[in-house]
Amino acid sequence: MQGKKIVVLGTGGTIAGTLSGPAGGYVAAQKAVAALLAGLPLPAAVELVSEQVAQVDSKDMDLAVWQALLRRCRHWLAQPEVQGLVITHGTDTLEETAYLLQAVLAPAKPVVLTCAMRPADAIDADGPQNLLDALTVAAEPGAHGVVVVCAGHIHSAFDVQKVHTWQLDAFSSGEAGDLGQVVQGGVVLTRNWPQSTVKYAADAIEKIVSLAAWPRVEIVLSHAAVSEATVDALVSPEVAARFGAPPVRGLVVAATGNGTLHRVLEAALQRAAAQGVRVVRATRCAQGRVWPQPGDAWPDSQGLSPVKARLALTLELL
Ligand code: SIN
Repeated sequence: MQGKKIVVLGTGGTIAGTLSGPAGGYVAAQKAVAALLAGLPLPAAVELVSEQVAQVDSKDMDLAVWQALLRRCRHWLAQPEVQGLVITHGTDTLEETAYLLQAVLAPAKPVVLTCAMRPADAIDADGPQNLLDALTVAAEPGAHGVVVVCAGHIHSAFDVQKVHTWQLDAFSSGEAGDLGQVVQGGVVLTRNWPQSTVKYAADAIEKIVSLAAWPRVEIVLSHAAVSEATVDALVSPEVAARFGAPPVRGLVVAATGNGTLHRVLEAALQRAAAQGVRVVRATRCAQGRVWPQPGDAWPDSQGLSPVKARLALTLELL
């Protein structure tokens, strides 16, 4: 880790949470990112800069925080002396933020998101080791792209998913497997770093980070005894207008198995598509992906989970 400048951006989460919140119980996003770094045993030669971009429980992640984070990442990544970035984040929507940063920035330097399942003041807090591991990955020569570091595993932004509600090793890359591990303070890589092919020109990124609203894309679930009323209500201009919401431009359906849909939901989606709404099929299965079949009415999500497919469609509609 010697002689490198690494920027640590704080956004909140349990890694910055405490057991002794204002109401006497656990609350996420209480400690400043500088305080999380304060006690870490870092080599003196590492130059760390920290910045508090947000302080949120990531279940409440929103467009304003994402845009602020994209802006700060873009700023710091452009500084030649910066080797890489670390972002402290809540676990609940971490995979969405990771995917968004990779899809928009495709950074040629490492951007490492990390988190914790136990609050910062727990006696057995996992945040400090995760943060130290994330710094190790950010300082790794040749590292690039957006990755997630948790419980000693390095995951790619594309594959990573929170799969457990309370275990410390709460993330998985499914069948793809993790990119590697952090073992005894070093990186052991088993797959390549994420692709760094930038898809967006600078002015397109400027649009993404400054628009007051992104195209509205919603997720619907195909399940037994599903009601067509859900989709009809979602795409109804009257319902949107009642809440001052923009009209729905896209629907990601978390389909059963290999992208199949309940016939009732399919009929409702066909009505939505006839109104110009884009439909994409992801799967509600934890493993595998939707493989295209001849005659498919709607495209599949290219292996993306429903929440990431929602972001991919949002960016496409921009
Ligand atoms: C959050 O996602 O901000 C809270 C939960 C967590 O970090 O585990």
